[in-house]
Amino acid sequence: MTKPDDPNQVLIFDTTLRDGEQSPGISLNTQEKLEIAQQLARLGVDVIEAGFPITSPGDFEAVQAIAQGVEGPIVAGLARTHVADIDAAWNAVKDAERPRIHTFISTSDIHIRHQLQTTREDVQGQARAAVAHAKQYLDDVEFSPMDATRADVEFTAEVCQIALDEGATTINIPDTVGYTMPHEFTAYLEQLYAFVPDLHDIILSVHCHDDLGLAVANSFAGLLAGARQVECAVNGIGERAGNASLEEIVMLLHTRRGDVGLYTAANTKEIARTSRLVSRLTGYPVQPNKAVVGRNAFAHESGIHQDGVLKERTTYEIMDATTVGLDANSIVLGKHSGRHALQQALADLGLEVSGQALNTAFKRFKEIADKKKHVTAMDLEALLTDELREEIPTYQLEWFDVEASSRRPPHARVGVRAPDGEELTGSFTGDGPVDAIFRAINAATGTDARLREFRVDAVTGGQDALGETSVVLEVRGVTGSGQGVSTDILEAAGRAYVRALSGALHRRSVADEAEAATADAAAVEPVRAP
Ligand code: KIV
Ligand code: ZN
Repeated sequence: MTKPDDPNQVLIFDTTLRDGEQSPGISLNTQEKLEIAQQLARLGVDVIEAGFPITSPGDFEAVQAIAQGVEGPIVAGLARTHVADIDAAWNAVKDAERPRIHTFISTSDIHIRHQLQTTREDVQGQARAAVAHAKQYLDDVEFSPMDATRADVEFTAEVCQIALDEGATTINIPDTVGYTMPHEFTAYLEQLYAFVPDLHDIILSVHCHDDLGLAVANSFAGLLAGARQVECAVNGIGERAGNASLEEIVMLLHTRRGDVGLYTAANTKEIARTSRLVSRLTGYPVQPNKAVVGRNAFAHESGIHQDGVLKERTTYEIMDATTVGLDANSIVLGKHSGRHALQQALADLGLEVSGQALNTAFKRFKEIADKKKHVTAMDLEALLTDELREEIPTYQLEWFDVEASSRRPPHARVGVRAPDGEELTGSFTGDGPVDAIFRAINAATGTDARLREFRVDAVTGGQDALGETSVVLEVRGVTGSGQGVSTDILEAAGRAYVRALSGALHRRSVADEAEAATADAAAVEPVRAP
């Protein structure tokens, strides 16, 4: 990628689907990744790092689907310096409007000695070969010296120079273990610029982890030192304590633009919605006091603050909630709203829904609208993520009965529609009503799924709020996650469970088929020359 014409523009490189997806317990399927990528495009990020294609067929498929289906941002695939990694990354991203290969190798001695078990010379050679190999495929190649902030800056500079000589168009400096401090990072980058003046001609990027809570501060320090790309993730998810949080970087530059002079092309009004979508699909809640997107980020508790804000909002608010799209309750549908009004409300949310998908959405909307006075934009979003995903093949929760009392263990009976249309029934007496439903679903489907995580949230406030549940479960070593939405928590829980089960069973059967194919191949006698 060429540098933006305006030296004050900061590129947002979103790694929610790569580094973010490496967070423990997150397992997004292709459809979910595509949904997030489409929302990231609406948010206006410059680069989507869609995954690490060599790591699994699922990752490859998701990166390819994003490259083929998402317009606007550059789509990047991550690769170690190995030829096979770079080939996989290229094959996954090559259909994108603007593809990128991002290759990396560590430059810190601690990684070179203990993890790579090699030498500095070999690292130089690998970096050179990797960038050269990637450049045979495309122009846009990013190179990262991993663990750079704990590495010898002079050696890192030599490796960066090699990558530049081979044609790297972006050099990204990672604080891989979240160790650096802002003043130290600035000094490090200044030294790097001094050793490698060619860095001024390309885009310098920063990638900071949050182990000491400094990811955003360090990224900002990087910008002050001259970097013009920040690698970040929605809600700050990522390895260990996570990455720099996208929404904080974007709103920091937006709010303090007058003083700093830097800006991004992100559409800030899409921030809240992107945060909710990522939280919903990953099952990672956003802490209430999280900057910018937390439930309390714009709430005022103390009387003095409330009084001030009522008189003049800016007395205690440095950002306007509407700037980050926290006015999502402005779209309101009622019980008498028709199909057209629903379609229009969805279009206002940026979702073009028609045909069978609109019928499904309308049916679910009517069910909810019967129980809830007003259906808001946030309700619609939750409903859509719950209802309109095409996971194939899918079980459906048809009905359930739960007998619960404080004197007897609860007993549940369920009816589940199997992918082939058959209605399966099962029952179970559990420790609690939710446990009874989950185990009755296991009994109906003849599976031995084990619950790993269960979460309940209210979509909006009020007594008739929709309940949103997230389930992560495991079936013979593979996990599946699902969400369910209803005004009835038990129904929402049951829906989430069958969705998670459908995903896990699908993955299990794909893995079983792959294992069987490998075993068959191993069993074939090698053909000997006569
Ligand atoms: O943290 C890190 O160093 C990374 C690299 C792959 C850029 O994620
Ligand atoms: Zn990282």
